[in-house]
Amino acid sequence: MGDTKRIGILTSGGDCAGLNPTIRAVVLRAVEHYGWEVIGIQQATHGLLKDPPAAMALQPQQMSPLLTAGGTMLGTTNKGNPFAFPMPDGTLIDRSEDMIDGYRKLGLDALIGIGGDGSIAILRKLAQQGNWNLVGIPKTIDNDVGVTERSVGFDTAVNIATEALDRLQFTAASHSRVIILEVMGRDAGHIAISAGIAGGADIILIPEIPYTIDNVCAIIKERQSKGKNYSLIIVAEAVRTEGGDPLTHTDGLGECRLGGIGQYLSEQICSRHVAETRVTVLGHVQRGGIPSPSDRLIGAAFGVAAVDLIAERQFDQMVTWQNRQVMSVPIADAIAHYRAVDPTGTLVKTARGLGIYLGD
Ligand code: F6P
Repeated sequence: MGDTKRIGILTSGGDCAGLNPTIRAVVLRAVEHYGWEVIGIQQATHGLLKDPPAAMALQPQQMSPLLTAGGTMLGTTNKGNPFAFPMPDGTLIDRSEDMIDGYRKLGLDALIGIGGDGSIAILRKLAQQGNWNLVGIPKTIDNDVGVTERSVGFDTAVNIATEALDRLQFTAASHSRVIILEVMGRDAGHIAISAGIAGGADIILIPEIPYTIDNVCAIIKERQSKGKNYSLIIVAEAVRTEGGDPLTHTDGLGECRLGGIGQYLSEQICSRHVAETRVTVLGHVQRGGIPSPSDRLIGAAFGVAAVDLIAERQFDQMVTWQNRQVMSVPIADAIAHYRAVDPTGTLVKTARGLGIYLGD
C-alpha cells in the first residue's frame, strides 16, 4: 500500500457520460480496499484557485446514484489553461503556481486526473512543476486519446448518434429526403464511423478521408435509380468544405467552435437539385444522458486500475484499454500520439464492405 493515504481526483475538459461511474470506482477501491481518503476537487484545476480550495471528501455511501448519472459530480471546465489563464480584463497570465499552492493546501499524496489528451497534458505539466504524483484516466466522446482503444464517454455518444440515425431513417424514408446528421468528434471521425455503421448510414464523411460533392451527389442519384428514395448521411464536425476550408464560428467569448458542415453539405446537394435535404446537428446531446453499460464498465476498470497504480507507486502513467485489457502507459507516450480513424483500419474496411460510401 505504500504510504499513500489521501488522494485527489478531478475531472477536466468537456464532460461526458461515464465520468461519475469512474469516480465511483476510484472511491470504492481507494476507500474500501485501501482505506485511503479521496478528495474530489471541483471544476477541474479551477477548484485549486479557491481559498480554501473547492474540494470535498468523497464517501462510498455517496456513490450509489453515480452509476446512472451523466455529467460529473465534481464539475469540470475546458477553459482556463493554468499557463495562460484568462483574466476578466482579457489578459492571459500564468496561474500554475497558484494551482500548485492549492494542491499543497489539500495535502494530497497523489492525484487522479480524468481528462482528454489536452487536459492530461496540462495536468502533467503542472505535476512536473509541482512535484505531484499523477495518474491519468482517458475520457472523451471523441475517443482520440493516443494509445488507448477506448476512452470513457465514447460508447454512450455512439449509442446516442446511432439512435438518432435509427429515428431519422423513418422520417427520411417517409419524405424521400436526404437527411444529414452532424456529429461531434473534434478532429477525429470515430463517432461518425462507428455510429454510421451501426445506424445504417448510406454515406459517412470523416476528416480522415477526402470527399467530393459530385461523388456524394452521384451516390444519392444511384440510390434513387435503384428505388432507394432516401439517404442518410452522417458527417463528423471537423470535415471541411470540398475546397478544404474549415467550418467554424466564433462564439460570444471569441472562441472558435466547429460546426456547419451539415448545413454546407445540405446546401450543396440541394442546389444541384439532387434531393430535398434536412440537417440535424446532434451537439451536446451526445455528451449527456445515462452512461451506457460499456462506459460504466470501462470507467470501473479504469478507476480500479488507476488506484492500484497509486498503490504500486507507479506515477506519470495513464490507464489504457488495449486488447480487452486494462494496461498503463507513460503519460508522455499517450499524449505524443493523436488517435485519428485509421483509413486502412477495420471500421473503414467494414463500412466499405457494406457498400457505405466514404467520400473517396
Ligand atoms: O471534446 C469533446 C467535444 O464535445 C467535441 O466533440 C466538441 O467539438 C467540443 O467538445 C465542444 O466543446 P464545448 O462543450 O466547449 O462546446
